[in-house]
Amino acid sequence: MAIRKIAQLGEPVLRQRASPVALAEIRSEKLQALIDDMIETMRDADGAGLAAPQIYESVRIAVIEVEQNPRYPALAPVPLTILVNPVVTSEVGGSELASDDAVEMFEGCLSVAGVRGRVRRPRRVRVTAHDRDGKPFELRWEGVRAAIVQHECDHLDGVLFVDRADPRSLTFLREYERHVPLERRILDRGQPVLGAPKAS
Ligand code: NI
Repeated sequence: MAIRKIAQLGEPVLRQRASPVALAEIRSEKLQALIDDMIETMRDADGAGLAAPQIYESVRIAVIEVEQNPRYPALAPVPLTILVNPVVTSEVGGSELASDDAVEMFEGCLSVAGVRGRVRRPRRVRVTAHDRDGKPFELRWEGVRAAIVQHECDHLDGVLFVDRADPRSLTFLREYERHVPLERRILDRGQPVLGAPKAS
């Protein structure tokens, strides 16, 4: 296993549409090693997820893992999830998202280091994918984890959160910590997602 270099905003690989994985090859040493490297790189960088293009591999694989975050005790952890050839479908409304159908949060990205921006997304999605053994599975996720899986799968289409963020909400991390109060950082159905605020 190896910690890989993470591509930063401006690298063309982040803007390419990634190729589907041939399921016959998913159990190959090469792809299994890639998945292990993605997990190790995500954990090392404290990311909630990582998509293969972020480590210069233009294939449709993403990994997600959220551990208990002391700053957001109301956030349910997400166990390690490996998505091969994922397809995400919104399970709410149309293009104009009512607040009840939306999760809105200041997202960040390991490939856009040091920046946060507010993104509004459908709060309920269905995801079909294959696991690392090539077995198909389906997830129905809502709230913050729905936002995370949409963010990661966007990477496979060359889309970054800054494309979807309210441009006037963009902020560097230091200014985010200073000026965006905890109760405005994550809104699910218009309601703040938080617990006891902790000094940062
Ligand atoms: Ni990202």
